[in-house]
Amino acid sequence: MKKYSIVIAGGGSTYTPEIVCTLLADLDRLPLRAIKLYDNDEERQNKLAKACEILVKEKDPSIEFVATTDPEKAYTDVDFCLAHIRVGKLPMRELDEKIAARHGVVGQETCGPGGLTYGMRSIPGVLENIDYMEKYSPNCWMLNYSNPAAIVAEACRRLRPHAKVINICDMPIGLEDSIASIAGLKDRKQMDVRYYGLNHYGWWCDVRDKEGNDLMPKVLEYMKDKGFVSPDMLEANQEPSWYDTYYKARDSVALDPTLIPNSYFKYYYFPDYVVSHQNPEYTRANEVMDKREKDVFSACAQIEKNGTSKGSYLEITNHATFIVDLAVALAFNTHERMLLIVPNNGAILNFDPDAMVEISCIVGKNGYEPLSFGRIPTFQKGMMEQQVACEKLVVEAYIEKSYNKMWQAYTLNRCVPSASVAKELLDEYIVANKDYWPELK
Ligand code: NAD
Ligand code: G6P
Ligand code: MN
Repeated sequence: MKKYSIVIAGGGSTYTPEIVCTLLADLDRLPLRAIKLYDNDEERQNKLAKACEILVKEKDPSIEFVATTDPEKAYTDVDFCLAHIRVGKLPMRELDEKIAARHGVVGQETCGPGGLTYGMRSIPGVLENIDYMEKYSPNCWMLNYSNPAAIVAEACRRLRPHAKVINICDMPIGLEDSIASIAGLKDRKQMDVRYYGLNHYGWWCDVRDKEGNDLMPKVLEYMKDKGFVSPDMLEANQEPSWYDTYYKARDSVALDPTLIPNSYFKYYYFPDYVVSHQNPEYTRANEVMDKREKDVFSACAQIEKNGTSKGSYLEITNHATFIVDLAVALAFNTHERMLLIVPNNGAILNFDPDAMVEISCIVGKNGYEPLSFGRIPTFQKGMMEQQVACEKLVVEAYIEKSYNKMWQAYTLNRCVPSASVAKELLDEYIVANKDYWPELK
């Protein structure tokens, strides 16, 4: 049987160890001959690489392990690139969030002006990795988590339209476990769902158990009170900022009680609430640097020091499971229904065919086939039109190096109150991103 070769791009990411663990736990589903880590920051990647090598060798010493900053070595002879790069790393995320928050605007990684700013920074990093892949392994698939996924996906559509890249998000996957729990099922795999929208901007319009019974009424009724806080979710095990996001979904359901909203609508429906609850001096980037980053790096340091993974703890989440499921679907033609960010092309009838939408697709050896959604309601269509225009404007601003298009992108965003605030933000972001953005004219 064929054995596959994988490169993880953004090897120094906090998510790398859990993806390596998941790949190793799933060798019966996806047999491997090589796992490579690639990053452009050797020092950071080295904090994780030795531990990952130990994990691989403990499981199957015949699997080749490579950690490198050399793109040719990384991308030669690979079948899948699992990508999760963060251009500018967490200190730039911190600036994205804090510059917005200090102007009294939502300060968030992918939503609002911080997300648009991150988009402009991310585009060249992702394109660079796609180009390495196409040069050294033209048959490889890139499964890409790199954020902000909506803008990254639009940049792929415009600038690398024939590249074998599939952009994905783990948020709906996590929320589907809550939905399953609310419906009294074991996990998300007990359901068939239909979902449409943009990345971090979509809705479930149909949720059924495997017998075809409609679960939407029961789930929506529950969510009116508790949002995504499911019966088995213990508050003590949640980081407070995420707990708040799950709970706040109750208000999003109140606005439209017919569809199940992505939890990210907190930022777009209720930006005033978010602003009044955020601390401009300590944002989510700080929480991540103080917790997830420290936890992952110290677990890896311990494995390296002990020379064994025995007694160490690395958390595995559905983030890793989903990307490995996608590789399995492509490799083995499973025709699993999966949520992907793809060109609309008529899947949503009354929406721009050139928009990158996040919709349920069937995945097999030849890629994906989107489900068809017909006409969507006026509210969802209007929301999506405004947001997709922001995302397209960032990519146009990148291509044309246009100051005005970037200013328009901020102005059009639901989280930004006026063109004058948008301009103040843009001018500060330009200075903060001078090492990353093209010079805008
Ligand atoms: P991180 O900062 O811990 O790691 C990112 C790594 O990418 C760093 O080691 C950095 O050096 C590397 N990198 C930056 N530019 C690069 C380039 N051009 N080539 C190769 N490597 C490069 O970040 P994290 O918190 O682990 O998150 C990683 C990424 O995954 C982020 O973009 C994050 O937003 C994204 N993410 C997406 C989803 C999703 O739903 N799509 C879910 C979780 C995380
Ligand atoms: C979810 C989203 C990702 C986002 C992440 C942020 O998983 O789908 O797109 O990157 O949340 O999580 P963090 O813990 O870094 O704030
Ligand atoms: Mn996401």
